[in-house]
Amino acid sequence: MLRISFYVPTKIVFHRESIEQVGKEASSFGRKALIVCGRSFARRSGYLDKIRGLLEREGLRVVIFDKVEPNPSFETVEKGSKLARDENVDVVIGFGGGSAMDAAKGIAVLASKGGVITDYVYPHEVTGDVLPIIAIPTTCGTGSEVTRYAVFSDLRRKRKVTMVGYPILPKVALLDPLVLRSLPPNLTAYTGMDALSHAIEAYLSKRSNPLSDLLALESIRLIFWNLKEACRGSLEARERVFYASMLAGMAINCTGTIMVHGMGYYLTMYHDIHHGLANAFLLPFAVEYNAPALPSKMTRLADVLGMGPLSPSEVGRAISRAICRLEDEVNIPVSLSEVGVSEDELDDMVKEALSYHRNLANNPRKVTPEDVRTIYLKALKGRGSCG
Ligand SMILES: [Fe+2]
Repeated sequence: MLRISFYVPTKIVFHRESIEQVGKEASSFGRKALIVCGRSFARRSGYLDKIRGLLEREGLRVVIFDKVEPNPSFETVEKGSKLARDENVDVVIGFGGGSAMDAAKGIAVLASKGGVITDYVYPHEVTGDVLPIIAIPTTCGTGSEVTRYAVFSDLRRKRKVTMVGYPILPKVALLDPLVLRSLPPNLTAYTGMDALSHAIEAYLSKRSNPLSDLLALESIRLIFWNLKEACRGSLEARERVFYASMLAGMAINCTGTIMVHGMGYYLTMYHDIHHGLANAFLLPFAVEYNAPALPSKMTRLADVLGMGPLSPSEVGRAISRAICRLEDEVNIPVSLSEVGVSEDELDDMVKEALSYHRNLANNPRKVTPEDVRTIYLKALKGRGSCG
């Protein structure tokens, strides 16, 4: 029996030089735009000037908030929203990786509705109208341009906190593969692994459906075949991984993420490990762990990856090994120990991971503290223990 609920109302414009359309798109929302971006790439690359010029050419006035750090804090979002309110802007444009786009979402919410950010993050949900958001991603990872999520850092409690709500889905996503030209190989790998995590987690999620599966499987296939070349600098391959990251974003918009993201947050908050890299350490082991819950879906995934006939007892391990090989090829560090995480932290890691209830609730297998500990231990030992 089919059961599908799917809502992605974002206008997607995906082609080289699609960024040229930012002025036209923004002018349909008003006369004053706030550009939200990070501290260096936007300016250094010349894109900030370019976007400002394109907006001004359409008669818009432009305000810039270029203070977004990786894993943006509540304070950053509150500062940006004050600027948006003081300047009375009509549209918010997020230019950057997930951090800039998520900050743009938070700023649009606070500027429109007032209050403080804790009024709008989980377990609350954003409802009603917020300022329109245009998202321009510059990495091939987060898919935030097509999701109803924004993730922030609560520095006081040392936690990742998620804002959820259909009103924060961007009105327009401009995906211009040319912006990926200068993405360094390591960031291509890390953000590509974030996209792969999204796609696989969406596929495994209890909330998956045939439509999200379609998006997830195509995303997984594209990432497997293109991430290595993308890391070597091929623009064609980067373009395909970029497309895959958007598909994965559409999939998680429907399904949420599972234990991989829930377990990765500790690594980012306590060790400053890049979000995509944190997921990469955990993904192979989480796949192997969950495989017995979904034997027929795992067989279909193996099929998509061209792995040939495998018995239900081997398929999880085989896919896990394939992920490990891909991680080897794109130079993902081998173990959590290698990046400074210690076995002494295991109790804290397990406790933190179990507190991300939203992610764990989507997991196809019920997660126990022992299971989480075992997966962290495997990741600490590294890919030698893969499959
Ligand atoms: Fe992610």
